[in-house]
Amino acid sequence: MRKLIAGNWKMNGLRASSDVITEIVQGLEGTEIEADCLICPPFTLLGAFAEQTAGSGLKIGAQNCHAVASGAHTGDVSAQMLADIGASHVILGHSERRADHGELSSDVAAKASAAVDAGLVPIICVGESLADREAGLTRKVVLGQLDMSLPDALVEKPFVIAYEPIWAIGTGLTADAGQIAEVHHAVREALVKRFGEQGHNVQILYGGSMKPANATEILGVADVDGGLIGGASLKAADFLAIFNSAG
Ligand code: PGA
Repeated sequence: MRKLIAGNWKMNGLRASSDVITEIVQGLEGTEIEADCLICPPFTLLGAFAEQTAGSGLKIGAQNCHAVASGAHTGDVSAQMLADIGASHVILGHSERRADHGELSSDVAAKASAAVDAGLVPIICVGESLADREAGLTRKVVLGQLDMSLPDALVEKPFVIAYEPIWAIGTGLTADAGQIAEVHHAVREALVKRFGEQGHNVQILYGGSMKPANATEILGVADVDGGLIGGASLKAADFLAIFNSAG
């Protein structure tokens, strides 16, 4: 399957960060790797980056959206607005949003429906905490989140899953190849059970302290179809090095 290397800039980046985008676009021009490449900057930079990357190999995505298309929701941004400004993807249900904003899997499912209605590809995040893992609940937690975060509206629509063990995000710790293989296999099985043939074609990304030094190993694990990269996506050289491991 074609891989997707996606950068999640979180709440980082100012207008001057267009330099990083320029460097990534130039780097992509010089590579033969056949993979999808995406940067998800904060809302404030989406429009500028979408214009800057038009016609290039780099896609631009968002990190959240509201579940309805428009209306009285002060401070929120709809999926339709994101599509209108040139975003192709939207990250939904990231563990930081689940923790900081109390987002439930049911909220994530509603947002995912809105995203596909607007023509966006949702990247739906799932992952266990350290306490879950230590209690032997990884499979139960991840598959439970998956079941409840995916609406039926995804049938026949492109979508992406990101497995992000919470204990590996921004910590420098990564799940080992065996742990990643086990969860990705379980996610694939659940997708095929629910979506049939479509489930075989859903990209399943790994996220959590992915960097140039570990990217080749992680991207080589069965059922790992790409990465969702936080910290290492803020530096063009690191992000490109990870992208170049996707071949
Ligand atoms: P990290 O973040 O690469 O900095 O661990 C990944 C993520 O949260 O998407």
